[in-house]
Amino acid sequence: MCGIVGVTGNDNAVKILLNGLEKLEYRGYDSAGIYVNDQKGQDYLVKTKGRISELRSKVTPDVHGSTGIGHTRWATHGVVSVANAHPHFSNDDRFYLVHNGVIDNFQELKAKYLSDVPFRSQTDTEVVVQLIDKFAIEDNLDAKAAFLKTLSLLKGSSYAFLMMDREQPDTLFVAKNKSPLLIGVGDGFNVVCSDALAMLKETHNFLELMDGEVVTITPDKVAIQDADGNAVERKPFHVDMNADETDKGTYPFYMLKEVDEQPNVMRKLAQTYLSEHGEPQIDDKLIAAMEAADRLYIVGAGTSYHAGLVGKRLFENLAHIPTEVHVSSEFAYEQPMLSKKPFFIFLTQSGETADSREVLVNVNDAGYPSLTITNVQNSTLSREATYTLLLHAGPEIAVASTKAYTAQIALEAILAKALGEATGQIVAQNFNIRQQLGLVATGMQAIVDEKDTLEQLSNDYLMKSNKAFYIGRGIDHAVSLEAALKLKEISYVQAEGFASGELKHGTIALIEKGTPVIGFITQAKTAGLTRSNLQETMARGAKTLTIVRESLAIEGDNLILPDVDEMLMPLLSVVPAQLLAYYTSLNKGLDVDKPRNLAKSVTVE
Ligand code: G6P
Repeated sequence: MCGIVGVTGNDNAVKILLNGLEKLEYRGYDSAGIYVNDQKGQDYLVKTKGRISELRSKVTPDVHGSTGIGHTRWATHGVVSVANAHPHFSNDDRFYLVHNGVIDNFQELKAKYLSDVPFRSQTDTEVVVQLIDKFAIEDNLDAKAAFLKTLSLLKGSSYAFLMMDREQPDTLFVAKNKSPLLIGVGDGFNVVCSDALAMLKETHNFLELMDGEVVTITPDKVAIQDADGNAVERKPFHVDMNADETDKGTYPFYMLKEVDEQPNVMRKLAQTYLSEHGEPQIDDKLIAAMEAADRLYIVGAGTSYHAGLVGKRLFENLAHIPTEVHVSSEFAYEQPMLSKKPFFIFLTQSGETADSREVLVNVNDAGYPSLTITNVQNSTLSREATYTLLLHAGPEIAVASTKAYTAQIALEAILAKALGEATGQIVAQNFNIRQQLGLVATGMQAIVDEKDTLEQLSNDYLMKSNKAFYIGRGIDHAVSLEAALKLKEISYVQAEGFASGELKHGTIALIEKGTPVIGFITQAKTAGLTRSNLQETMARGAKTLTIVRESLAIEGDNLILPDVDEMLMPLLSVVPAQLLAYYTSLNKGLDVDKPRNLAKSVTVE
């Protein structure tokens, strides 16, 4: 999962590539590079370890051109080094290539075709570019034919390529399989990008590519060819997003901005999916397809999986339909026994996660109906599922997901309400979702206004410990998992989200003097039990902190959350956890938005 950009026919190529890469840093940020050609015989390759800011500092004023390609890397094959950074190039300096994804058979190809070729890097990408060159020379093929021949030999779960040939310096060659790649259509120039976000300053009109297609792009033409060699005509789609939405404004980090945006995201979802009187406005066909199912299967990864755990309660309580939740990377290869009429719900902020997509491919092969709930219009999982609902959360750039999680839960609640009403569930009829989302938005605002308190609590509880527990029961347990993930990914504190009643069956052995244990208490049925479990940890030296719903609060509780419907309490209880993670990361001096080893969009399995 790397970020790819390209441009042809624009004298600002260097600037466009660097700006675009900066927007794609969420996809990987361990090394980066660009290659540009000025059409007059001058070309430049600049590569570096580290972030795009490093790359910028290495791009000297003489580096210029009108056609070029760029890449920001998240290492899969080979360590992080300048040699392994992209673009990679053939030994005769003719072909330059950037690549996202994994080529499974690169070792075999190297052994079979390239045993006499010296290699500079440990990457699968270099094998591909050397192969293209070899076929161009030995079989006397032009760039496109050599590219096609090479592609036909590759085995890979997902990849996207963008190539240049010095002999046709104004042409970009593009191919993809499963990995996202878009072509942006400009006025007298064209661009290529892994995500439209990267090129919104240049154009709002994008062409999607299908797997197996090969595209040649010149400043005034985009020629798409399908897998059988036929020319394909395709109209661009308009991306209705403002380039400013992708800036962090006066915020020090995107994560804080995105946490603060959550009240508005709740209002936006209510406006988009509910009538003035609070009736859900969801496609009838989607509701009918869900009604016809005997079981829902929610599939997701990371934070989206956690949003699914809350969704299960919503669908079961409001719509009375049995619901299972699965981690996509597990489901893809250990499919559980399915019910007779399953309906699949894919939760994915990016709409590109390879693990989730793998499940969708199988679901489509089996002919089951599906819905993707995503933040990204036209993303792969959105295109390939039967139905799509958009989160309308605005771009989420910080690697740690915040507003996408709460948006997913709110949209699941709206959908569960719509389904419950359709099937005549009294509890759904009595659930005033519009009013509740209004209360949630106000409640979220009250919590994000308490930043000083949360920073203080982070200092008191989390800054001095290298481990922590979030505990709760039922839906509070689901939030504990998300709270722990937030803390782990950005502050590197070893955190566990735990079912509070299960602690005593082994894990409580880890509690020492001063271990932070944070309890969520938002459900009347389990409040007393979670309090007892917190006492048990206190008796073993834990430093406990409670996050409690107002109507369940007692003297001595630490953080009191406004009351909303119990089923929607995760929308509020997660917010302090997001901010605790934020301040712990910030005050440790870490890069909150770009934690080590992680990328936001994971397009490899
Ligand atoms: C990555 C990100 C997580 C995210 C997960 C699923 O691991 O770092 O923040 O939750 O992918 O992403 P998706 O786009 O499918 O929701």
